[in-house]
Amino acid sequence: MPISIKLGIAGRLFTAALACLTLAATVPTGRLFIQSTSPEVPLYVYTPIPESGLEPRNIHLSFGDNETSVVVTWSTRNDTQSQVQLMSVQPPNATEKLYNGSSTIFVDSGTKKATQYVHRVTLPDLGWGGLFKYRCGSQATGWSDWFEFRTPKRGFSPRLAMFGDMGMVNAQSLPRLMQDASAGMYDAILHVGDFAYDMQEQDGATGDQFMQMIQPIAARLPYMTCVGNHEFMYNFSHYKNRFTMPKGFGGDGESMFYSFDLGPAHIIGISTEFYFFVEYGVDQLKSQYDWLQADLERASKNRAARPWIIIMGHRPMYCSNDDGDDCTFGALFMREGFLARWYPLEPLLQKYGVDLALWAHEHTYERMWPVTRLEVRNGSWAEPYSEPAALCTSSLGRLVVESVTTPSGRRCTILRSAAPTMATPGCRSSTPPTSAWSRSATISRVES
Ligand SMILES: *[C@@H]1O[C@H](CO)[C@@H](O)[C@H](O)[C@H]1NC(C)=O
Ligand SMILES: *[C@@H]1O[C@H](CO)[C@@H](O)[C@H](O)[C@H]1NC(C)=O
Ligand SMILES: *[C@@H]1O[C@H](CO)[C@@H](O)[C@H](O)[C@H]1NC(C)=O
Ligand SMILES: *[C@@H]1O[C@H](CO)[C@@H](O)[C@H](O)[C@H]1NC(C)=O
Ligand SMILES: *[C@@H]1O[C@H](CO)[C@@H](O)[C@H](O)[C@H]1NC(C)=O
Ligand SMILES: *[C@@H]1O[C@H](CO)[C@@H](O)[C@H](O)[C@H]1NC(C)=O
Ligand SMILES: [Fe+2]
Repeated sequence: MPISIKLGIAGRLFTAALACLTLAATVPTGRLFIQSTSPEVPLYVYTPIPESGLEPRNIHLSFGDNETSVVVTWSTRNDTQSQVQLMSVQPPNATEKLYNGSSTIFVDSGTKKATQYVHRVTLPDLGWGGLFKYRCGSQATGWSDWFEFRTPKRGFSPRLAMFGDMGMVNAQSLPRLMQDASAGMYDAILHVGDFAYDMQEQDGATGDQFMQMIQPIAARLPYMTCVGNHEFMYNFSHYKNRFTMPKGFGGDGESMFYSFDLGPAHIIGISTEFYFFVEYGVDQLKSQYDWLQADLERASKNRAARPWIIIMGHRPMYCSNDDGDDCTFGALFMREGFLARWYPLEPLLQKYGVDLALWAHEHTYERMWPVTRLEVRNGSWAEPYSEPAALCTSSLGRLVVESVTTPSGRRCTILRSAAPTMATPGCRSSTPPTSAWSRSATISRVES
């Protein structure tokens, strides 16, 4: 069963630079494709936030505790009821069903103490392969527009769009995402941290605008997230309050670390930021680490049902930008742990044979050979991922990196590009790709 992950870069030069990575989990081998896509996309039209305090805004979906359950999250300025009206379009069923949920009050910590109510309604067990429409709000105070979404087909091969570092400024991959999403190309979105730059700005209005900007996509597709460094203010409260990640496999219950099953994959989201914003509590490192170990243990025993284990987090464990910043120092924390090697992640990923790691934060695109403990593992152009514990990095950015210094000979990059026209392979042992944006190779994963 293939999983395809489409990688986007939200930058000016990168509008055309969306690549499509298809991972096939036909146990134990499969295929990987990277396809270039055409730059002609319709203009994205931003719908402003409704003025009335009662109207639902910032509407988005996420997976519930399983693939056929969906949670609708939205916000209102005033305190209203939390209801969703659901109608089955395919198979057709004219019966509208009403679901009740609950809301939490969210007060921004800025001077205005701007207040909103975040509503969450779970639509449990909707069945495989359904097409639904829904609207949210309440009977008493009015409804949103109708939005359509699908539940996956039984035995499906997930198609995911993955990116990070979007921002309100220069979110140029949005039109492409919109177009692809409405063409039904994806089953879900993975936004790996750094959302609005920054959500708490203008007393939280920037966060509201960002959530409204992504609503046309996020109200139709599960929008699965990780926290990034740009969400650090007020103990990540804008991130924790605005998103609703699954709790079925435990985690912190605040969307900072969690996991979910999706087709052939077990997908884990973590906070890399616990390693950097330690002023919010070092104990969070421990609770995340302990949970991750238990989650990997369980997932690794469930390989027959879910052969892929994928982890995502904001700051890369491997990257090769020579800016003296995170690729030089931060990545070390990710691999070897905080300060005195507390809670190092790489040994865990290696032990449990995590197949794929998705990172963001660095505003360049990179894909790695299988690499653990700074060593490139077995890999070739024909079979780049022949090791378990193969890590793959893709880092996508909001700000265009106009010039990137040549990587200092780290031997791990398969594909690296600061612009579609400028393939800069950083792996001294590899043959430079003719084009970073059109290449396909076989992927195989050894059973462990
Ligand atoms: C699926 O998840 C929903 C909540 O998200 C839960 O109510 C339901 O019991 C779960 N169903 C199964 C079969 O696990
Ligand atoms: C929304 O709340 C504000 C502040 O509490 C209040 O002044 C206003 O009347 C409310 N609006 C509606 C439509 O209820
Ligand atoms: C339509 O949905 C209602 C409520 O979920 C259910 O009771 C009914 O059996 C459904 N009808 C058909 C024809 O599927
Ligand atoms: C939902 O809440 C409304 C208003 O409180 C109530 O009338 C209705 O019975 C509830 N419906 C369900 C399905 O719980
Ligand atoms: C930040 O939030 C976490 C989780 O809610 C909590 O455990 C921690 O104590 C908080 N830190 C501070 C400094 O408030
Ligand atoms: C790498 O692959 C080759 C050919 O498949 C094999 O002979 C060799 O033992 C492998 N090396 C390692 C370190 O796994
Ligand atoms: Fe970042």
